[in-house]
Amino acid sequence: MKRFAIKDYGAAKDVLTEIEGEPRPVDETHVRVEIVTFAINPYDVALRQGAMRAFRKVTFPYVLGNDGAGIVTEVGKDITHVKVGDEVIVHAISGTYGEEIVVPGKKIVKKPAAMSWEVAAGAVTPWLTTYNLVTHLLGDQVGETVMVQGASGAVGSLLVQFLKAQGKTVLASAAKRNEALVRQLGVDQFVAYDEADAGEIFADQADTVIDATKGGRAGKAGMEIMKAGGNFVALNDLPTEQIKQGNYFSFGPSKEYSDAEALTALADFSQQLHLTIAEVLPFDLASVIEGHERLEGHPAAGKIIVKKAAE
Ligand SMILES: NC(=O)c1ccc[n+]([C@@H]2O[C@H](COP(=O)([O-])OP(=O)(O)OC[C@H]3O[C@@H](n4cnc5c(N)ncnc54)[C@H](OP(=O)(O)O)[C@@H]3O)[C@@H](O)[C@H]2O)c1
Repeated sequence: MKRFAIKDYGAAKDVLTEIEGEPRPVDETHVRVEIVTFAINPYDVALRQGAMRAFRKVTFPYVLGNDGAGIVTEVGKDITHVKVGDEVIVHAISGTYGEEIVVPGKKIVKKPAAMSWEVAAGAVTPWLTTYNLVTHLLGDQVGETVMVQGASGAVGSLLVQFLKAQGKTVLASAAKRNEALVRQLGVDQFVAYDEADAGEIFADQADTVIDATKGGRAGKAGMEIMKAGGNFVALNDLPTEQIKQGNYFSFGPSKEYSDAEALTALADFSQQLHLTIAEVLPFDLASVIEGHERLEGHPAAGKIIVKKAAE
């Protein structure tokens, strides 16, 4: 079975490769899924570049990919929530870049029929991040006014929608070219960071600021926007110099967060969820390389999805 792996750390075209995967057995708690779509995430790019080698050990060849969607082809005997033939959303520790994956049953949930294959794969990590950050990291502490920096991104756009669904006032920033997209998500106020200083315009207005920009580029403005004593959440590194008193959180995945809970919430939210899909690429190595190279730049908003052709 075809899978896409890295054979070393390095440039996409040098290290991404196609390998023939051996089918793994399915034990009583696992499920075999034939992948229809998988998403390419900024995390995959960083992993492939070796940016996480100090704390994330991998053995080459290493099949990338956390997010996918597909059809169940085999279930372990303890699995009761899905059956062969079900369409499912998959969150894996790795390995969705390929035709097949075996995952624990708790890492999948049924895909709602109305949810497209592209959105099902593309929403996984952005949704888990959104849901766990808002529900579990902050919970009641989130406050009434939240600033989302990088609101045009996959995580940022889901944060806006989830927070608006909870009745929050949402301030947002993104590039001018993405203003219409972000306003359509229902933000209360918007500043284009490439035209104006969001830190100045929204100074001291947000109970919580979430820097969801790629690589965490908006820390200074974010701290200016946070009310004194508020929350600042980074998806990447926290700012080295904290210019205002507040609660500074670095969000990351945690074993304390339940995928089953968050994926079920995704299925429940799916009817009102909007996720921009930038591109759907064919299921081959050239697509994986292209997707990685695009994410290294500053691409148009939206997820890059790889999709198997219908048979
Ligand atoms: N800690 C975690 O668990 C976790 C989970 C998921 C993601 N992340 C990280 O969170 C970040 C966002 O992920 P994503 O999947 O949402 O990425 P994405 O879809 O590529 O979105 C990137 C966002 O960054 C903004 N951006 C890019 N260059 C910028 C710049 N120079 N100045 C200001 N904003 C800029 C983009 O806005 P414009 O295009 O409008 O400029 C866009 O809103 C990534 O760094 C990712 O690795 C962390």
